[in-house]
Amino acid sequence: MATHKILLLPGDGIGPEVMREVSKVLGWLTRAGVAAFETETDLVGGAALDAHGVPLSEDALGRAKAADAVLFGAVGGPKWAGVPYARRPEAGLLRLRKDLGLFANLRPAICYPALADASALKRELVEGLDIVIVRELTGGVYFGEPKEIVTLEDGQKRAVDTQVYTSGEIERIAAVAFDLARKRRNRVASAEKHNVMKSGVLWKEVVTRVHAEQFPDVGLEHVLADNCAMQLVRNPKQYDVLVTDNLFGDILSDVAAMLTGSLGMLPSASLGAVENGTRRALYEPVHGSAPDIAGQNLANPIAMIGSLAMALRYSFGLVEAADLLEGAITRTLAAGTRTRDIAGPGVNAVGTAEMGEAILRELDAPAR
Ligand code: IPM
Ligand code: MG
Repeated sequence: MATHKILLLPGDGIGPEVMREVSKVLGWLTRAGVAAFETETDLVGGAALDAHGVPLSEDALGRAKAADAVLFGAVGGPKWAGVPYARRPEAGLLRLRKDLGLFANLRPAICYPALADASALKRELVEGLDIVIVRELTGGVYFGEPKEIVTLEDGQKRAVDTQVYTSGEIERIAAVAFDLARKRRNRVASAEKHNVMKSGVLWKEVVTRVHAEQFPDVGLEHVLADNCAMQLVRNPKQYDVLVTDNLFGDILSDVAAMLTGSLGMLPSASLGAVENGTRRALYEPVHGSAPDIAGQNLANPIAMIGSLAMALRYSFGLVEAADLLEGAITRTLAAGTRTRDIAGPGVNAVGTAEMGEAILRELDAPAR
C-alpha cells in the first residue's frame, strides 16, 4: 500500500481545533485499511511568527514541498494586528501558494439539503446548489508589482497595487475550468471586467480562444464580475463552473460560500501544474481563523474535514474514500447534528469534537 505524505499546518485561531478532527479521520482511514498516511505537523501564520519571527519558516516550506499534500487550517487574528505587512500571518499562506505554484483554486459551493434553511437566501434558490468557483491564485493584484505605498513631494501618500495577467496564466486556469466542467454539467461562466480593465479584455480574449481551440464542446458564457455577484444572489443555480481571477475569485467565493448557509461548510483545493503525473496541492477550508470563537470547541470542522475529502479525491486518487467521507458528512447533517453556526433557532448545537465524532460514527455505520 502506498504511503501518502501529508503536512498538517493547523495555523491560528480555530485552525488547531478543526485540524484535530481531521487527524481523527486520518486515523480512521488508516485503521480501516483505506490507505497509509504519514503526517507531519508544522507552524504557519501567527503561530509561526511567535515561534520563529516569520509566518512561514524555510523548514516548513521545505516540508510542504516534500509532502504529497498540505492540509492547512487558518491564519491570523487580532494578536498580530500590528506586525509589519511583510510578516503578517496571511503572508505565510500567500508564500505557500506562490512558492508551491498553486495557481488553481477550486472552491465548491454545495448546499446540503439539510442546511437549505440556514442560508440567508430562500430555500428554493439554494436547495440543490452545486457550483465550483475556479479562482486563479498566484497572479493578479495579489502579487503584481509595483505594490507599494510611497510619499509624494507634497506630503501625500500614494498606494499602488498592480493587476497583471499574462496570456499563459489565463490559459492554464481556463483549461482547469473547462476540464472540470466536462466532469460536471459541462458549463463554464468566465467573470472579468473587460468594460473597465485591460486585464479583463485579455482575460476574455484568452478564455474565448482556449474554448474554441480545445473545449468547443463545453458551454461558455462571459459575465461581468459585478453582474456575477448580483447573479449569484439572484439565481445561483444558473452556474456550474465559474472561472475568475484572484481578487474577483476571493470576493465571489465568499458570496458563494454564504449561499450554502455557513462559511464553516466549504472546503477548497489549491492545485499546481501536473508534472510527471503528480501535482503539488494544498487543501484548506474557505473560512478564516475565527479568533472570536477559538479554543472554545464551537467551530464547525466540516470545511476542514471536507478539505481532507478533496485531498483524497484530487491528490491521492482515493475516490471511493472521498465519496465515503462526503457521504458520512451528509448523513451526519441529515441526522440533525449541528454546530452552532448551522443550528437553527431552538436547536441544540454540538461542539467541534462532537461533530468530528459524529462523522466518525457515520463512517463506521454501513451506508443507509
Ligand atoms: C482566502 C482568504 C485569503 C485571500 C487571505 C487570508 C489572504 O481571504 O483564501 O480567500 O485573500 O486569498
Ligand atoms: Mg477570501
